[in-house]
Amino acid sequence: MTDILDAEYRTSHVKVHDAAAFDGMRKAGRLAAECLDMLTPHVVPGVVTEKLDDLAREFILDHGALPACLGYRGYTKTVCISPNHIVCHGIPGERVLREGDIVNIDVTVIVDGWHGDTSRMYGVGPVAPRAKRLVDVTYESLARGLAAVKPGATTGDIGHAIQSYVESMRCSVVRDFCGHGLGKVFHDAPNILHFGQKGTGEVLKPGMFFTIEPMVNLGKHPVKLLADGWTAVTRDKSLSAQCEHSVGVTEDGVEVFTLSPTDQFKPPILSA
Ligand code: MF3
Ligand code: CO
Ligand code: CO
Repeated sequence: MTDILDAEYRTSHVKVHDAAAFDGMRKAGRLAAECLDMLTPHVVPGVVTEKLDDLAREFILDHGALPACLGYRGYTKTVCISPNHIVCHGIPGERVLREGDIVNIDVTVIVDGWHGDTSRMYGVGPVAPRAKRLVDVTYESLARGLAAVKPGATTGDIGHAIQSYVESMRCSVVRDFCGHGLGKVFHDAPNILHFGQKGTGEVLKPGMFFTIEPMVNLGKHPVKLLADGWTAVTRDKSLSAQCEHSVGVTEDGVEVFTLSPTDQFKPPILSA
């Protein structure tokens, strides 16, 4: 009973949070980033994706946190693992990662009720130059989206910054999935579209929390959902990449909650 009365729900208005909430998000965001850092040495040729999921779940539980995806709308795993032409929501299982794969791993943890949601790309051994370029474009698009976040800017400014850059690099932005408000609620208002027009959408205010998580394709943007009801793939089978941060709007810009404490957010395949 108390649980129900205390629960926080998705609302149509965008919640504005206080300083204590920023503290909560820092802890959750940091643990989510540390979970992805922990996985890095395990993302190697021959690894079964289910094993990466097991490692993530054990890490999260060992740190007194909860895996937000486990049981979420019927999802049965801790992380999403999306190699190559899988756009997002790949389900860990028997699949073995192979040299040359580019792989997104997306984790969401709950710490003291606060959600930390982040994803990044991993290269499985050496990867082809075109795959590396796609990952590079995807990271730069997130950086440009982050740079658009400040009080008085709009969600459309974020989408415009991402889309205009990605298309200038002759890649495409996925339309069917978006970033989202989060906090005590996993998926809340506002939607953060990764495409759009300047000055449109929600006006940003200090204390708003949301994710930016662009999915970028080497080919065209349309996706299709596989029969498992989760896995989204590119329709044209082109390579897809994604990266995600959870952020808060501050008085003069943005705070990123999910930075890697060991600076591994940007993968080694890009630093080379
Ligand atoms: N972490 C994903 C996001 O970025 C959500 C995954 S929901 C799941 O919003 F159920 F597929 F895990
Ligand atoms: Co998200
Ligand atoms: Co995510």
